[in-house]
Amino acid sequence: MIILGIETSCDETAASICKDRKILSSIVSSQIIHSKFGGVVPEIASREHERLLNIIVEEALIKSSTKLESLNAISVTNGPGLAGTLLTGVSFAKGLGMGLDIPVIPINHLEAHIFANFLADPMLKFPFVCLLVSGGHTQLWWIKDMNKYILLGDTRDDAAGEAFDKGARILGLGYPGGPAIERKSKLGNPNSIKFPRGLMTKGSLEFSFSGLKTSLLYYMDSYDKTQGPSIADIAASYQQAIIDTLVEKMIRAINHTDAKTCVIAGGVAANMILRKNIEGRIPDVKILFPDLKYCTDNAAMVSFLGQIKFNDNKNIPIEFGIQPNIKLS
Ligand code: KG4
Ligand code: ZN
Repeated sequence: MIILGIETSCDETAASICKDRKILSSIVSSQIIHSKFGGVVPEIASREHERLLNIIVEEALIKSSTKLESLNAISVTNGPGLAGTLLTGVSFAKGLGMGLDIPVIPINHLEAHIFANFLADPMLKFPFVCLLVSGGHTQLWWIKDMNKYILLGDTRDDAAGEAFDKGARILGLGYPGGPAIERKSKLGNPNSIKFPRGLMTKGSLEFSFSGLKTSLLYYMDSYDKTQGPSIADIAASYQQAIIDTLVEKMIRAINHTDAKTCVIAGGVAANMILRKNIEGRIPDVKILFPDLKYCTDNAAMVSFLGQIKFNDNKNIPIEFGIQPNIKLS
């Protein structure tokens, strides 16, 4: 069983070949063109996907020594994401699928992020808690079984990745903000400024990051670099405020469900301080992170989930379109 996975939900053009649940190739092209705008420009992203898709798919086939004719199916992200970029990927996948006369499977990007953890540990078993932390989502899930997902907590405003991106913009550190803040923080003291931790009220599994961002904005309004702490200290303190919230809510969700396993998913899972802060905090609970290369957007998670959906073919729709605002439920 060989599946080609395609991912174009935002600014990464990606293709991957998965054979019998093993990733044979995973090619990702990150569109650095957006960094000069301080964020993703949807129109440019769609055009870039269109320009790159053929090249990236061909590279994924060559790297895995796979012939186009040996593909059994194509899986493609159809939401959530930017409408124009999703449309580029889905149209490409449908055209190729029609030409090869093979099925095309729609994939929920969030579900794919969660399933990237099965690539880290093929023995991972349901049920488990998932902290899903990406650029657009910050959620806690109780993943009971395949297709049985219960939302435990969501953000009321910004996502954690968004908080990193907006914070980096305020600090002049560039885009994407997560890696930029993490890099800068290495030189700073995370305890130098006490930024607020949102929604810490007892029992709450919800998140809020907009107050933290506003607090950074006010702090920088009156910041005097000749006297105040360094930008590295501010970045490290800001990062620590985000991470403290994520870790605390994750522990609450584990206690709430009595889970024995918890996985982290999405771009923010690449943050090493998050990983260090979780380590050893919850004895007797297995904590899993995807490989670094499968935390941020990639097509390996799409081809892998495509294979699972294909085997479980009762859930494959014959016809489908893009669903930019689709939720995981
Ligand atoms: O999952 P992802 O690649 O795309 C979405 O589905 O949104 O996540 C992107 C987000 C961005 O907000 C980026 O700043 C954040 O993940 N991110 C990080 C790190 N690497 C990426 N945040 C914190 N630390 C990182 N090392
Ligand atoms: Zn993503």
